[in-house]
Amino acid sequence: MTGTGHASMRIETSAGSILCDPWVNPAYFASWFPFPDNSLLDWKELGDVDYLYVSHLHRDHFDAKNLKENISKKATVLLPEYPTSQLEDELRELGFTKFFKTKSNEVHELDGGLKVMIQALISPTDGPIGDSSLWIEHEGIRVLNQNDARPTDLGIFAELGHVHAHMLQFSGAIWYPMVYELPESAKTAFGKQKRDRQFDRTWRYIDDLKADHVFPIAGPPCFLDDELWQFNDIFGDEGNIFPDQGVFLEEYAKVGGTNGIVLLPGSVTELSEKEATTTHPTDLAEFFKNKKQHLEEMRERKAPIIAAEKASWRHPEIDVLGELKKRIEPLLEESIYMAQGVGGPVRFDLTDSFGTSGEVIESIVVDFPGKQVRPYADEKVRYRFKTGRALIEHLIHIDEGDWVNSLFLSCRFSAARIGQYNEFVYAFFKCLSEERLQYAEGWYDEHEKAVESEDTQLGEWTVQRRCPHLKADLSRFGIVDGNTLTCQLHGWKFDLPSGRCLTSVGHKIRAEKNA
Ligand code: FES
Repeated sequence: MTGTGHASMRIETSAGSILCDPWVNPAYFASWFPFPDNSLLDWKELGDVDYLYVSHLHRDHFDAKNLKENISKKATVLLPEYPTSQLEDELRELGFTKFFKTKSNEVHELDGGLKVMIQALISPTDGPIGDSSLWIEHEGIRVLNQNDARPTDLGIFAELGHVHAHMLQFSGAIWYPMVYELPESAKTAFGKQKRDRQFDRTWRYIDDLKADHVFPIAGPPCFLDDELWQFNDIFGDEGNIFPDQGVFLEEYAKVGGTNGIVLLPGSVTELSEKEATTTHPTDLAEFFKNKKQHLEEMRERKAPIIAAEKASWRHPEIDVLGELKKRIEPLLEESIYMAQGVGGPVRFDLTDSFGTSGEVIESIVVDFPGKQVRPYADEKVRYRFKTGRALIEHLIHIDEGDWVNSLFLSCRFSAARIGQYNEFVYAFFKCLSEERLQYAEGWYDEHEKAVESEDTQLGEWTVQRRCPHLKADLSRFGIVDGNTLTCQLHGWKFDLPSGRCLTSVGHKIRAEKNA
């Protein structure tokens, strides 16, 4: 297995090679770059493969430019079973023609006895409607590339036999809490909680599978634009949510983990049933010690790329309000669950810069109850976002239907909200196309109707067995402390006496104190 950066790796077997998630070009408005830099690898050579696996459409996994320019179109794409055909369509557009359409959670045998299984997660909150993990078996060696997917448990993979290598995400990949307009001390506290939770979840998955070797992958990205530089974990900030692979090894050691292997771009692990032998292109400890210097050099090399991208965003001729009206109002009309879930107006303050600096030159409200997009009218809003008008112009220009996979992940915005986190706000702006909206609405509809009849015992409480968030089994993920239940899968909290979800709007839990 060759490390090729972020969630990417190339796996060689005598029955063929598989390249996973080959990301190299910046993503999300040139905010995210792979860390460590993998752009000096020979991508033509790496791209000459038998199989390609693109786990999902997030741009740090699906890199259209690299896929188009460097990855062999003779490769057979191992396709996850997603409810929409967007991933396949986009790959076809790039020139791929050979697809092996897997069935979720089914083992498929390919030529030469290479076995693969892809688990596709398909809730509106999994990736851009869909995220997946790839399991591989060849000659008695099993590998699980869990990628950044969050299955409720790994039982289905464990049942297929002992796993030798487990690759999984451990670092942050979100805008929370950094972009929220909060006092610094609150941001640090929330960030620290999140950082701890990320590690706790990682330990839980590792413990679930008990693989021989564990590979921290799929993050962190690095931020090379001056406006985002502070998000890199190089300032000793305990609230930074982007710890790197070196920190992973340290934290893992604290909980007794001794089987972690970090792959730098170009590192190679030879895996057998008995052992894993890894060679690195440079000294590992030294590399992480000099991280800041690596980032500074990278920042200099990539500055022209960022400048060129920025130069392409402005389209001042676009009537932003008019275009958003045209695109979003029909979707507001059709949306039942998400519109209700958001439940109030959401305001966009648009600045004359590429982010939050500069002056606000236009204020637009997406009014969910009123099913309207209109100028802001001095009212109370549930959520307020502030970003560059140029970014919205660009999204309209390229007809982007997923603002999470573009604007929000760019972190080039700030946010303020009244009340709790509202997952429906982000779910809606992920679904700015008919196909996605219909899918998400249908999913919520079914989800809502699924009667959660099974219970479980947690301490002194009888609670519904499945988490109201994404159905994690609370007999495994639930922890009760006093009157508060925490589901460890995503850290959501519930007040047991009232059933109220303390993390997000809606999502009541059924709970009763034992007599
Ligand atoms: S499934 Fe997400 S917090 Fe429980």
